[in-house]
Amino acid sequence: MLSFSKIGPETYAGDLLVYLARQSDKGAYCCASGEVDEVICRVYGLGDFSGKEGEQLLFYPEHERQGIPTAKRILVVGLGKEVLSRELFRKAGGTIASLAMKSKAQELLLVLPDLACDKAEMVEGLSEGLVLGAYRFKKYKTKKEPDSSGEMLQQAALYAVSHKGLDKALKLGEIGAQAACKARDMANEPASHWTPGHFSEYGRQLAATHGMTCTVLNQARMEKLGMGGILGVNQGSAMPPEMVILEYAGKPGAPTLLLVGKGLTFDSGGISLKPSVGMEEMKYDMCGGAAVLCAMQAVAQARLKGLNLVAIVPATENLPGPAALKPGDVITQYGGKTVEVVNTDAEGRLILADALAYGIKKYKPDMVIDVATLTGAVIVGLGHHRTGLLANNDNLSARLLAAGERSGEPLWRLPLDQEYTKQLKSGIADLKNVGKKDGGAITAAAFLKEFVGDTPWAHLDIAGTAWDFTEKSYIPKGPSGIAVRTLFDFVRNWKG
Ligand code: BES
Ligand code: ZN
Ligand code: ZN
Repeated sequence: MLSFSKIGPETYAGDLLVYLARQSDKGAYCCASGEVDEVICRVYGLGDFSGKEGEQLLFYPEHERQGIPTAKRILVVGLGKEVLSRELFRKAGGTIASLAMKSKAQELLLVLPDLACDKAEMVEGLSEGLVLGAYRFKKYKTKKEPDSSGEMLQQAALYAVSHKGLDKALKLGEIGAQAACKARDMANEPASHWTPGHFSEYGRQLAATHGMTCTVLNQARMEKLGMGGILGVNQGSAMPPEMVILEYAGKPGAPTLLLVGKGLTFDSGGISLKPSVGMEEMKYDMCGGAAVLCAMQAVAQARLKGLNLVAIVPATENLPGPAALKPGDVITQYGGKTVEVVNTDAEGRLILADALAYGIKKYKPDMVIDVATLTGAVIVGLGHHRTGLLANNDNLSARLLAAGERSGEPLWRLPLDQEYTKQLKSGIADLKNVGKKDGGAITAAAFLKEFVGDTPWAHLDIAGTAWDFTEKSYIPKGPSGIAVRTLFDFVRNWKG
C-alpha cells in the first residue's frame, strides 16, 4: 500500500495531495509551494485553520490558476506545536487516512515536511498511521452505508526531495501496522467464523509463507500430555481445543523468547455464566492469541535476527455444554499441579497455565511474555488507556514499558508480591483459580506466576485495551490490534 514517489507535488495529478503544517504564533506554516501557502495564509486569516494538531483544511484547487498543483484535492493536516514524536506522526497518518476515505480518494501523495526531527521516526509514524487509520471491517456488509461514500484507500505515496535511508522505516511501519490490522480482522470475525481451528489454519499458513515451523497439538495429544486446564475449559464446547505452536529461527545462539496468547474464541463464562448484556463482546477474548500470531507474522516478514521466537496459542471456547466444568471441580494442569475451579469464568488462566508450563519445559526459553484479555479488574484499575503489566523481572518489564511507549500502546506495571498468592490457597487442591474480588488483575497474574518457575516472565493484561482502546485517529471503534506492534518493537530493539 505504501511507497516513495518520484513524482513531486507540482506534477502530481492524482486524487489527493497532502501537506503537513506546524502551528506557530504567526500562523500555520508548511513547506508547500507558493499558491498552497497562500491559501493556508488566507484561511488562517479567517480563523479556520491554524495548524493545530489534528486540524484539517481540504480544498479543491482551480487548475487554471498558475502555480497551484494539479491534484484533484489538496489537504493540509495540522501537527500542532508540541514536540515532534512518532506518535504525533502516527496520529497525523490516521487523520489523513480517514479523511481520504471520507472523500472519494483512492490514492494520495503525502509531501514530507522539512522539519527538524528524526526523519525515520517521522516516516515510520506516518506509515503506521496511514495503514492503521485506513482499516475498516466490511466483510459482512452487503450494502454500502449511505454516509460512508468513500472507497478503501488503496495506495499512499510519500514524497521527499531525498528519501535516502528511509525505505526501511516505511517498510517496517507498514509491516507492523498490517500485522495489527490482521489481528483486528481475527477479532472482528464472529466466534462462529474464528474458531480454534482458524488459529491453527492461520499458524500453518504463516509457517508456509515465512519459513517457520508450525505444530498443532490436538485434543488427543493434549490428553497424553496431561493438559487438564485447556481440556477442562473445553469440556462444555462442541468444538475441540487446539494448541498452535509457531517457531521462528532468528539466529542460532540468540536468546529464545516464548510468546503465549489467550485464544479463547468465545467466553460465555461457562457454568459461572456471564450476564447477557455485552456478552457478544466476548468473541474478542482471543485477542491475546491474535496478538502473538500477528507479532510472529511481523517479525518473520521483517526477518528480524535478534531473537529466536516460539509462540503458543491455546485455543478453545468456554461454553456451558452438558459436560462443562462445574464450580468445585478439580483439574490437573500440565506439569501436575491441581486446581480447584471455583469459578468457571476464570478460564483464561487455566488454559494459559498449561501453555506456559509446557512451553517453558519444552523450549527452555530465556524469557516469556504472555498476552491475555484476562480480567475485568484491570479495566477497573487502568481503564482503556494502558495495558496492565505484571512481571517477575525488572529488566523485561523495563523493555516492555519502553516498547509500549514507542508504539503508542502504553503499559502500566502493577505489583506482584508473594502476599497476593495467599488468596489462591485451596482447601482441597494445590491452588484455586480465583482469589477475592479485590486486586483481581494481580491475583490472576499471581496464578500464572505459579507456572513459570524462575524464567523471566511478563504478563500483559489487555482486557481494557484490546477493544474500546483510547480514541485516536488511527484506532477504530472495535478491536485495536493491541500488543502486536509493541511485541514487534520489543524484538526489533532487542540488544543483548
Ligand atoms: N475474558 C474475561 C475477562 C474480561 C472481562 C475481558 C471483560 C475483557 C472484558 C475473563 O475470562 C473473565 O471472565 N474473568 C473474570 C475473572 C473472575 C471470575 C475472577 C472477571 O474478570 O470477571
Ligand atoms: Zn471468563
Ligand atoms: Zn476469558
